[in-house]
Amino acid sequence: MRHFYVTTPIYYVNASPHLGHAYTTIVADVMARFYRMAGYRTYFLTGTDEHGDKVAEAAREAGEAPQEYVDRISGQFRALWPKLSITNDYFVRTTDRDHKEVVRSILQKVYDAGDIYFGEYEGYYCVGCERFYRESELVDGMCPDHLTVPEIRKESNYFFRMSKYQDWLIGHIRDNPDFIRPERYRNEALAFLKEPLEDLCISRPKTRLTWGITLPFDEQYVTYVWFDALINYLTGIGYPDSERFEAFWPVSQHLIAKDILKPHGIYWPTMLKGAGIEPYRHLNVHGYWNIDRSKMSKSRGTVVKPLDLKDTYGLDAFRYFLMRDMVFGLDANFSEEAFVQRINADLANDLGNLVSRSLSMAVKYCDGKVPAAANQPDDTSLVAEAARLFPDVEASFRSLQFHKALISVWDFINLTNRYIVEQEPWVLAKDPAGRTRLDTVIYNILEALRVIAVLINPFMPDSAGDILRRLGIEDMESQDFEGIRVWGGLPAGVSVTRGESLFPRVEYQKPEEPAAKALTDIKEEVSFDDFQKIDLRVAKVIAAERVKKSDKLLKLKIDVGEERTIVAGIGEQYRPEDLVGKKIAVVLNLKPVKLMGVESHGMLLATEAEGTVSLVSFDGDPAVGAPVS
Ligand code: MSP
Repeated sequence: MRHFYVTTPIYYVNASPHLGHAYTTIVADVMARFYRMAGYRTYFLTGTDEHGDKVAEAAREAGEAPQEYVDRISGQFRALWPKLSITNDYFVRTTDRDHKEVVRSILQKVYDAGDIYFGEYEGYYCVGCERFYRESELVDGMCPDHLTVPEIRKESNYFFRMSKYQDWLIGHIRDNPDFIRPERYRNEALAFLKEPLEDLCISRPKTRLTWGITLPFDEQYVTYVWFDALINYLTGIGYPDSERFEAFWPVSQHLIAKDILKPHGIYWPTMLKGAGIEPYRHLNVHGYWNIDRSKMSKSRGTVVKPLDLKDTYGLDAFRYFLMRDMVFGLDANFSEEAFVQRINADLANDLGNLVSRSLSMAVKYCDGKVPAAANQPDDTSLVAEAARLFPDVEASFRSLQFHKALISVWDFINLTNRYIVEQEPWVLAKDPAGRTRLDTVIYNILEALRVIAVLINPFMPDSAGDILRRLGIEDMESQDFEGIRVWGGLPAGVSVTRGESLFPRVEYQKPEEPAAKALTDIKEEVSFDDFQKIDLRVAKVIAAERVKKSDKLLKLKIDVGEERTIVAGIGEQYRPEDLVGKKIAVVLNLKPVKLMGVESHGMLLATEAEGTVSLVSFDGDPAVGAPVS
């Protein structure tokens, strides 16, 4: 029997579940449902990551004991998944006893093999990231992710000899092109590996952190949270000696977003190697859902809660939108307006109309029963397309192009809608001689609907079940992919029902603009003379490129009458190639600063509102170097 094993990241319990967590878990669910229906023995794992500084701090802030706190937030994740029809086989928690035992046994194994040693380390430590940074990685002396000044920490700790496995890992990634995918993330991992790999600090002294798994070889230390968390993928299938582990580990696939590529693409395979375990089979990396083109943010109030969307628009519409609007591997922008447009166009119009008109015709022209069909050559293109559909969808699943799988099904939905228009059942119904043809046409439409329902089942299980029940099918188990290989699986003679509209149209309610109010954040007054001290000029961008290892920073070469280099934090909103040739406003006499190793001699003017950055630009075409006042 073929096997399929998919995991999501285990989510930190320092915040409640949001759209991003829901997305990864829904992708895993769609995959698990798909492979189950394709006859695979399937295992789907999710869970929560409950140790470490970040969680301990969140518990402190909440005024709760860590265990009490993690039980509560982990409970929120566990309670959410059934509401999104998630069919995970197991929910793993890093505070589970068996997980702690597995972590300790692996640590002991790696230690006994000589791959863990005791040493001293001093460096810049960001509490938010739970990691040390090299000086060159800091932006203006700050953590590039949190924009906070890291602490300097010196510690004696245990280290895993990750460096020893660098060459092996490069070879493994090169020899297995689909080990990390899509390709851009494989390249990113190979780029990390161009630099010498440092050993990984895998402990924290208990004097500083007690909320973790005690090292088996030193009572004074707990395990670093990533060395603990990654091992959940083994605990969750019964490592070391279950039949499940033997069966599923060789085909394991991890799903993550790009934020945790390094621990999964670098730490994890080397940890497995050190423990004498085969590497996982695939690391599937997706992009980020942004809101209004920037990161979801608690402080800006742009955190999207999955249950709010489900309650307003329905679960299947939500699952459909997430799978249809993100190209796996790339970032996508979430907007409620786009969501509503999708519901109306794809679900209410295309699919919803097809379901309601097909069933209405069966009720009207065929006494509410599935008619018997005669084989007729006029229908070959519909039948041939249906036969091509599953292989297409399967290929899209294999390459993680879920939006393409849906496009293929929607092409077929539209083909069926066209078939109805071309065959004109309402004309055939007027002529008694058209009876056989009418029966065949209605049969084909209903059979097409069955094929569609089976194929959308992994994405929209409730709607699929609803359509199949309307077609008189009660035994859902029988409706797998094998059953749509050959045209004609829908039994003739069973009663169909029309039912209510499957996806009613929805209206987008634009949130009301808040009423104008007085500004409360005006800065202190300055004199005109003081203002005159700032040298503002018109500049033209001559060249632009990204600053290495930073998503945010761009290095711009500008002409202000002389050539200058400035570094600007607009890389998440602007592509370098779109800036070349633009005229911008810059402050010329700002003291130079070094950002990620690049000296910035001046600053451009831009506005940031609600996370959207816009450059200050000019009407007309002012001369380069002209003063701005
Ligand atoms: N606890 C670690 C993972 C350990 S796995 C051994 C962690 N947790 S997390 O709660 O921060 O979850 C990160 C994951 O949540 C991402 O990799 C992704 O799966 C999902 N997402 C969080 N925000 C997201 C978006 N804005 N967009 C898409 N997915 C995102 O990291």
